[in-house]
Amino acid sequence: MTASALSIRDLTIDIGRPLVQGVSLELEPGRIHGLAGESGSGKTLTSLAVLGLLPRQARTGGSITLAGEELLGLKRRGLNRIRGKRIAMVFQDPSASLHPQLPVGRQLTDHMRVHLGLKGAAARERAVELLTTVQVPNPAEALKRYPHQFSGGQRQRIAIACALACDPEVLLADEPTTALDVTVQAGILQLLRDLATERNLAVLLVTHDLGVMSAIADTVAVMKDGRIVELADRATLFRDPQHEYTRMLLAALPGSRIEAPAGVDPVGGVDPVGGVDPVAGAAPVGGVDLVGGAAPVGGVDPVGGVDRVDAEDPDRGGRR
Ligand SMILES: Nc1ncnc2c1ncn2[C@@H]1O[C@H](COP(=O)(O)OP(=O)(O)OP(=O)(O)O)[C@@H](O)[C@H]1O
Ligand SMILES: [Mg+2]
Repeated sequence: MTASALSIRDLTIDIGRPLVQGVSLELEPGRIHGLAGESGSGKTLTSLAVLGLLPRQARTGGSITLAGEELLGLKRRGLNRIRGKRIAMVFQDPSASLHPQLPVGRQLTDHMRVHLGLKGAAARERAVELLTTVQVPNPAEALKRYPHQFSGGQRQRIAIACALACDPEVLLADEPTTALDVTVQAGILQLLRDLATERNLAVLLVTHDLGVMSAIADTVAVMKDGRIVELADRATLFRDPQHEYTRMLLAALPGSRIEAPAGVDPVGGVDPVGGVDPVAGAAPVGGVDLVGGAAPVGGVDPVGGVDRVDAEDPDRGGRR
């Protein structure tokens, strides 16, 4: 097992009442760790705790360490050293991370100036590189434009570029595709997958959508009422859910995907320990693999074949 980039151990959060109880997660470099569960189960609080963004009255217990350094209880100065630099966050609504009245280039280079001391042409060059990485078209031109001049999917790509500006070790993504059209979702998920692999990023992907998990996560933790009730690698969880609540969530997926339709193995019949990459090789539940590029939905291939960026036109981009 790889050493964890981020360890959450026995995390408790109490805001007038216990809201997160004994949550433990190990985030490994290069892997996507899904955190699923119903609304109000404590997913967002868990990720906010990592960045010290809980409300002031919150009481916490347990431990959150980044490469061995304890984060719980760090003062503002210590947190500022880490936020955005070593641990970055992407939210459901990209507008939450982008300033509406600042050009995209300024927002990207501000991060670099503050955290990396990078300015002028060097910062601009890196900003173009980042927009290229997240596949925003015409990156040099895009730097001069404002967030509202992009589609919802492109805005999320830009928010991800901002998150990557300082080359973090950990990326916390809280429902990053929930506000997006399904074809646009596919492109963003593919991007997160590629980033995790190419940059050795440890990703925590928070979503209530097990369909999204089935397409992208390496491991999946399922939360209910502030606790993790099941934690397994993706293939095991979808093939053989142990907890009644996980089974219920799977059964609630459109088309009751827990009963795999004829000819579709929910995890593609791939043995995840048999030398096959469980994510690239395994077809997710429902036969729609947003990662492997197979099995299009309704005849539309969400990733392969079409130009992912052009597919994100403003009419289809943000659904909010
Ligand atoms: N600032 C706060 N003060 C008091 N209670 C809060 C606060 N923030 C969240 N909670 C409560 O904590 C619980 C967990 O909230 P959290 O936002 O982590 O849920 P979630 O799993 O992310 O849900 P969703 O899928 O709807 O985003 C909920 O019962 C919520 O009402
Ligand atoms: Mg939430």
